[in-house]
Amino acid sequence: MKPPRLAFSTFAWILFAYLVLVILWGAWVRISGSGAGCGSHWPLCNGAVVPMSPTLETLTELVHRVTSTLSGLLIIAMLVWAFRRFPKGHGARLGSVLALVFVIIEGLLGAGLVVFELVGNNESAVRAVYLPLHLANTFVLLGVTAYTALTGQNIRPTLRSQGSLPLLVGGGLLLTLLVGMSGAIAALGDTLYPAHSLESALRHDFDAAAPLLIQLRVLHPTLAIASAVYLVFLGVLLSAQRSTPAVKVWSKALYLAIALQIAAGIANVALLAPGWLQIVHLLLACLMWLCTVMLCLHALDHRLVSPRLGLAGAQVGHD
Ligand code: HEM
Repeated sequence: MKPPRLAFSTFAWILFAYLVLVILWGAWVRISGSGAGCGSHWPLCNGAVVPMSPTLETLTELVHRVTSTLSGLLIIAMLVWAFRRFPKGHGARLGSVLALVFVIIEGLLGAGLVVFELVGNNESAVRAVYLPLHLANTFVLLGVTAYTALTGQNIRPTLRSQGSLPLLVGGGLLLTLLVGMSGAIAALGDTLYPAHSLESALRHDFDAAAPLLIQLRVLHPTLAIASAVYLVFLGVLLSAQRSTPAVKVWSKALYLAIALQIAAGIANVALLAPGWLQIVHLLLACLMWLCTVMLCLHALDHRLVSPRLGLAGAQVGHD
């Protein structure tokens, strides 16, 4: 039988994978134009708990509502488990409380999309601000779930006595979040104003008369390249200064995720963002975010600043 600590951590990782699936389905709701599948009703769907003779759009939206509600219930289960299994002040307790907070915000943001009708062909500025915030919350939720899983394995990241490292690490996390948020703007532009050829798409990007969402699209690849450079720099720096097996593995995984993501981004532009590629790009964004979070958390492991083990560069053979 697995020791309970490992079982908790495994549960948290399965939850993480499940959240990624819910996120991808949420993107499919946008891509397939099913956001209004339940009308502007929430939490009911078209005024009913179980809608009669639902359309494909209604089913698509309903599946998203049911699976995201289940993710909330799973997070509550993780929280109860963390409070029963770990002592006061343990990171797994903190992480699961944060996961609950961010899943509640996620649910409210999702409900807001429906109630304020920020779906389908809605071109309002409110939607253009709302979707990136929704994505940022989603990424933070994934981040705190990964933190919970990791602390459940008894890896304790700390910000104390780390010098300028938290700042460098925080910069990497923030940049990745901003890239994701600008991606949500690009995705909305592609959904509302689908391009018919690569040439007209590129011309529109630099056309002062084009809708603002189209003009903003160029921000995303620009930020993506800048963040890729910074993250590679961070990976090299952390691998040198915090040379543990975990830091090395996660930095390599991050380089791979960045390379794949840039290739998928270029393919997205070249192929005019077909639905399946948008899903692949979002999946890679989640994986890239996971690699960044794991790299940063492992680099901040408390054992690397413990006087007993020595300062930066100490070898910690966990994982
Ligand atoms: C390297 C880091 C990158 C990250 C983390 C990232 C992340 C994202 C995210 C989160 C979305 C929104 C997905 C959605 O809401 O469905 C997106 C959309 C998009 N990205 Fe990126 N991206 C990156 C690089 C790039 C690059 C280099 C390009 C172009 C050369 C690009 C082109 C696009 C396009 C065209 C969209 C809109 C279509 C879609 O949703 O897939 N991305 N990106």
